[in-house]
Amino acid sequence: MVLLGPPGCGKGTQAKILIETYGIPQIATGDILREALSQKNPLGLEAQTYMDKGLLVPDHLVIKIIEGRLQKGDCAGGFILDGFPRTLGQAEALETTLAAMNQQIEHVLSIEVEEGELIRRLTGRRICRKCGESYHLIFNPPRQEGQCDSCRGELYQRDDDKEETIKKRLNVYQAQTAPLISFYQKKGAVRSISGAGSIDAIKQKIERALSS
Ligand code: AP5
Repeated sequence: MVLLGPPGCGKGTQAKILIETYGIPQIATGDILREALSQKNPLGLEAQTYMDKGLLVPDHLVIKIIEGRLQKGDCAGGFILDGFPRTLGQAEALETTLAAMNQQIEHVLSIEVEEGELIRRLTGRRICRKCGESYHLIFNPPRQEGQCDSCRGELYQRDDDKEETIKKRLNVYQAQTAPLISFYQKKGAVRSISGAGSIDAIKQKIERALSS
């Protein structure tokens, strides 16, 4: 399954719900790159220069990550791609990789949210340093300010969640990622879902779309 949609539409939030329902892994390239950065390994340091500016990391780097990740045993029964593919080059590379594995994308969900709401969601997002759980100061606040409900880790704001960088990321989405909707439409695989409403309401819309 591929989750498509602009930054802040709720891909990560819904992917975490879907992995519980279907028992398949979430593969989030943004999380993998941030993890590489926190370990200060060469991939992370190279990616940082792009991420800090709100730009996409070059295709060859992310394609390599995905090719390696899809070979792992936990992907044999399916997987949820969150934040990949993001360019036509990535989408085409994914087709080739999956064909070689005798697999294919069965569902593409495009989550649509208007820009003002995306900016509100991203500027208010806070993430746990320890377990990666995502919160929102207003829409999904932790029980105790600044502290993760699950593991009591410290909550922080992503560097690219500052308003100026968010606008850049939204422009990059329109220019480089939105064309993937018609790429997958031509294959008859896309369902568009309005991402407006509560997290639970979107979860229900996704469940309906997947079962129809
Ligand atoms: P990445 O980490 O993938 O960021 P993104 O796509 O910009 O998506 P986000 O994680 O910001 O948003 P989301 O849709 O997951 O929303 P979330 O559920 O958290 O990528 C970061 C960077 O890495 C990129 O800019 C690029 O540099 C690089 N990168 C990653 N993948 C790449 C690739 N394939 N190729 C090249 N470069 C790549 O929700 C947001 C907030 O809203 C949260 O606070 C949440 O609690 C809240 N919320 C969620 N749903 C709702 C709701 N229904 N109502 C109210 N609030 C809600």
